[in-house]
Amino acid sequence: SAKPAVVVAIDGPSGTGKSSTSKAVAARLGLAYLDTGAQYRAITWWMLHHGVDVADPAAVAAAAATPDVVSGTDPQAPTITVDGTDVAAPIRGPEVTGAVSAVSAVPAVRERITELQRSIAAEATAGIVVEGRDIGTTVLPDADLKIFLTASEEVRAARRSGEIGRRGAEGVATTRADLARRDAADSSRAVSPLAQAGDATEVDTSHLTLDQVVDCVVTLVEDRKRPV
Ligand code: DC
Repeated sequence: SAKPAVVVAIDGPSGTGKSSTSKAVAARLGLAYLDTGAQYRAITWWMLHHGVDVADPAAVAAAAATPDVVSGTDPQAPTITVDGTDVAAPIRGPEVTGAVSAVSAVPAVRERITELQRSIAAEATAGIVVEGRDIGTTVLPDADLKIFLTASEEVRAARRSGEIGRRGAEGVATTRADLARRDAADSSRAVSPLAQAGDATEVDTSHLTLDQVVDCVVTLVEDRKRPV
C-alpha cells in the first residue's frame, strides 16, 4: 500500500530560521514546501499596489477575495505570483514588511489564505513542509509533526539584519525593534495568533547552525514516519 504523505508544520516568530530550515528539510525528504508568510506578503503587496488603505480593516476585507495568489512549492525554487505577476522580490521590501501584520490580522484575509493553504497541502501527494505562524494550531491541526522554532531576540535580530543587509549595531537595533513590534502584533491579534501548538516540539535555534536544526527536524520526521 502507498505510504501516507507526511505533513510537517513549522511555526515560530521571525528570524528563527523557519524558511531556510523548512526549505532544506523539504529538499532532503523530497517533500513540497509552502511559505505561508509569502502568501500574506503577496496579498499585502497587492493591497498596497491597488491603493487599498491597509490601516482600514473594512477596506482590506472588502478587497480580500480579489487577488489570485499562486505559490510554487518546489523547495529548490519556490515561486509566488499575484494575478500572474512575480512578486518574489517586492514582497521582501520594507513597505510590505511594515504593512503585513495589519493585513494578515483581518479575518477575511486569513479565511481566504487558510483555505488556499489547506488545498495546497491536500494536493501535495508526496507530502509537504508548511511554514508560518498558525500552521500547527489552525491551518493543519492534524499535521504529522509540528515544530515550533524559537531563538533569542538578539540572535533573531542579528540574523535578519544579515539577510536584509543592515550593518552595524544601529542597524541591528533597528531590526530588533521592527521584529519585536511585528511579533507583538502577530502574537496578540484576535484571529489565529502566532502560538505554539500543545503537541508541537520546540527547537531553540539560538546556538545551533542551520545544518544542526535541519538534522534535528529531519530526524524527528523520520522517527514519526516509522510505524509504532
Ligand atoms: O514569515 P514572514 O515574516 O514572511 O511572515 C510575514 C507576516 O505574515 C508575519 O508578520 C505575520 C503573517 N503571517 C501570518 O499571519 N500567518 C502565517 N501563517 C504566516 C505569516
